[in-house]
Amino acid sequence: MKRLENKVVIITGSAKGMGKETALLFAEEGAKVVVADFDEKGGRAVVDEINANGGTAAYCMVDISDSVQVQEMIKFTVTTYGRLDCAVNNAALKPDNNTFEDLDEEYWDRLQAVDLKGTALCMKYEIRQFMAQGGGGAIVNISSINAFKPTTGNPAYQAFKHGVEGLTKAAAYEYGVKGIRINSVAPGAIRTPMLASALESMGMEEKDIVPTMSLIGRLGEPREVAYGSLFLCSDEASYVHGTVLHVGGGFELL
Ligand SMILES: NC(=O)c1ccc[n+]([C@@H]2O[C@H](COP(=O)([O-])OP(=O)(O)OC[C@H]3O[C@@H](n4cnc5c(N)ncnc54)[C@H](O)[C@@H]3O)[C@@H](O)[C@H]2O)c1
Repeated sequence: MKRLENKVVIITGSAKGMGKETALLFAEEGAKVVVADFDEKGGRAVVDEINANGGTAAYCMVDISDSVQVQEMIKFTVTTYGRLDCAVNNAALKPDNNTFEDLDEEYWDRLQAVDLKGTALCMKYEIRQFMAQGGGGAIVNISSINAFKPTTGNPAYQAFKHGVEGLTKAAAYEYGVKGIRINSVAPGAIRTPMLASALESMGMEEKDIVPTMSLIGRLGEPREVAYGSLFLCSDEASYVHGTVLHVGGGFELL
């Protein structure tokens, strides 16, 4: 028996990076996967890969900062696969790259709209769908080590990732009694296009950050984070609720 056999799952931001790897892993574990992303080309390529490997997936175009599009994403899921069982709210923009005194207000607004409000909107309509089905369901929000530990030069990202942990706790407090489990995964430094782009903006390479960002001596791989979300969405985590799973090579102890 696969760990997510016939479960219907939405994974936002799954055209690349950790979201993509989560979509591939969940499909291998028997889930019907909605690949939800505003990158249509990348999203459709992930769907093709899953279907070519014998899995089940469909692409949904969504910008999670737009409430109407998030509602359409839920409708698309229910129309395509009949219900919703789990969601991994993973989509986010790359961190800002300014010191505090140079805080970029324009990027602040965009990051807030995607990373914080977008995650909240996804939760709102996922929870409504779970309730309409009579309760049950699992949500995993992808936050960051930056929700627990500061780094230099990305104050907006850090603030909104703290917010994602706040959303996780607030919703967990209310909806456990309805059988809806809500948790977060906090990745450390993971080898994805987002990290590559952030390093490039800072004029740095992987080897520059490993000593201060991992006790294991290397970056994490997207699949290592995907396994964390898989556990939290699976029935093996039936009593795990309102908590955070750090997947960061011990970064939080450094
Ligand atoms: N890479 C890291 O080291 C790292 C560390 C900690 C936390 N995270 C978090 O992990 C998650 C995944 O990061 P990643 O590194 O795989 O990122 P990535 O940039 O490689 O992929 C992000 C995906 O999200 C999509 N996306 C962005 N904004 C969207 C929107 N408004 N609507 C729909 N889709 C949107 C992008 O198109 C892309 O496919 C993010 O929440 C990120 O903040 C990443």
